[in-house]
Amino acid sequence: MRKLFLCVTVVALLLVPVLLGQKQKVGAASAARVARGKYLVEQVGLCGDCHTPRNEKGELVKEQWLKGATLDFKPIAPVPVWADKAVNIAGLPGWEKDAAIRFMMTGIAANQLPARPPMPRYRFNEPDAEAIVAYLKSLEPGNKPINHEVH
Ligand code: HEC
Repeated sequence: MRKLFLCVTVVALLLVPVLLGQKQKVGAASAARVARGKYLVEQVGLCGDCHTPRNEKGELVKEQWLKGATLDFKPIAPVPVWADKAVNIAGLPGWEKDAAIRFMMTGIAANQLPARPPMPRYRFNEPDAEAIVAYLKSLEPGNKPINHEVH
């Protein structure tokens, strides 16, 4: 019995570094995913251009990063259902992860409708959509929940 106990303890101790390594790998993978999402949001989708408010000099206000903004441009010809506000997307409040990933892959929201223009209908592939959602969810949520009824 004692030997068995010793064996189990030794095996368990041997496993500790393996399990810790695994945990670090998972941590590194999710950090890499968030970093990729940040790159896609900031350098590819340019989400901040619409979703971040600007100061009087026209510069994006970093403290309000992706927390929603009133757009400072309008179409020169009428566009039906034009939205003049871009909602808060920091933390993606009100969005299930899967619905948000689908939205970034198809442009169709949880209510089965596309968002109003000028929100682009993005067609990111699955890993990129997952990365974007991981990054947005990692941000501190803004206080305005996304209202899906406004379409
Ligand atoms: C050209 C301006 C513009 C850009 C760029 C933009 N958005 Fe939007 N977005 C909007 C507007 C305007 C709305 C509000 C649409 C509405 O009320 O139907 C919106 C809505 C959304 C919504 C809510 C949709 C819904 O149906 O509730 C999400 C999520 C979102 N945007 C994410 C993003 C992400 C992520 C990016 C970058 C990859 C991005 N947006 C880039 C303008 C933009």
